[in-house]
Amino acid sequence: MERFPRLRFMGSKHRLWPWLHDVLSGIEFDSVLDAFSGSGCVAYLLKAMGKRVTASDRLHFAVVIARAAVENSSEILGAEDVARLLEHDPRHPRFIERTFRGIFFSGDDLRFLDRVWARLDRVDGWHRRDIALSALIRSCVKRQPRGVFTVAGDPERYKDGRRDLRLSLRDHFLEQVEVYNRAVFSTGRRHRVVEGDVFEIDPAGHDLVYLDPPYVPRADDNCYIKRYHFLEGLSRYWEGCEILVHSRVRKIVKPHTPFSHRSECLDAFRRLFERFCGSIIVLSYSSNGYPDIETLTGILRSFKPRVDVFERDHRYHFGTHRAVRRAKVREYLIVGR
Ligand SMILES: C[S@@+](CC[C@H](N)C(=O)[O-])C[C@H]1O[C@@H](n2cnc3c(N)ncnc32)[C@H](O)[C@@H]1O
Repeated sequence: MERFPRLRFMGSKHRLWPWLHDVLSGIEFDSVLDAFSGSGCVAYLLKAMGKRVTASDRLHFAVVIARAAVENSSEILGAEDVARLLEHDPRHPRFIERTFRGIFFSGDDLRFLDRVWARLDRVDGWHRRDIALSALIRSCVKRQPRGVFTVAGDPERYKDGRRDLRLSLRDHFLEQVEVYNRAVFSTGRRHRVVEGDVFEIDPAGHDLVYLDPPYVPRADDNCYIKRYHFLEGLSRYWEGCEILVHSRVRKIVKPHTPFSHRSECLDAFRRLFERFCGSIIVLSYSSNGYPDIETLTGILRSFKPRVDVFERDHRYHFGTHRAVRRAKVREYLIVGR
């Protein structure tokens, strides 16, 4: 598990791995759907537990990362592939450099991203390309202060000595390719990663469904696109993304999710449980979300005769534009069977 390239990602459960492992080990199942896979760390844990895993998320960059580390069981990005990606082509497109100059990273960094993207199709094999893209994504997270893309900043301002902020994206990339290569392993089973809204994913064929939707927070917001729009755009070279040209950081339009709105989330949980009620349901939830745990277990009980709640303390770390905040919450795993 220590080989998983952990990503600073809002709501990531990687700190809860041992607890998740303990609770899941007490349940009998073989196939599993991680329907809000995010950073991919839970899907990776489930793969390491020997399960047949399907992971899905509607963020494209989350899908790319999960394909590289979960669906991919054998391909690695070799030295020749990397050399091909780094070859210089003076006529490469300059979309990233033109769009984000003075907003994120240095001019050299932005040109580097454009250059690698232009050469991605020289690499054979989907999963090798996924590794290259995942390495780019993780490099950007490491090089970006607090790992979020909410405020434009002069990259020079952040040169405070921290290695991750000092290293160029090129140097990060070379390291991250190795990190992703090391994460690849096989359990002899086939895993699948699909992109899409949770209400469009086929609910059939999973013994257990793990649900970790965004929580409607009591303060702040839970918008993934606001924080990670650059990574989402990068994962698809902004193809199909509508850039909000008047936003200072060139955000992209955020898709609607009922899990962000108090007025819609109760109905969304009801539909979610109904959709997956043919499987064991394991829901991650936390005390800082809306609705409260009693309401949520009440809804689940109308679909599942037996509902067990496991709980423990947890401390989330996440960046906001003001400061890095640490929220102490009670974390729940609600199991319906
Ligand atoms: C709390 S995070 C999941 C974190 C993940 N379990 C981890 O440990 O990294 C919630 C995820 O739900 C995804 N999401 C939000 N609304 C969705 C929807 N309607 N359908 C599918 N995914 C959605 C977000 O893109 C985000 O990755």
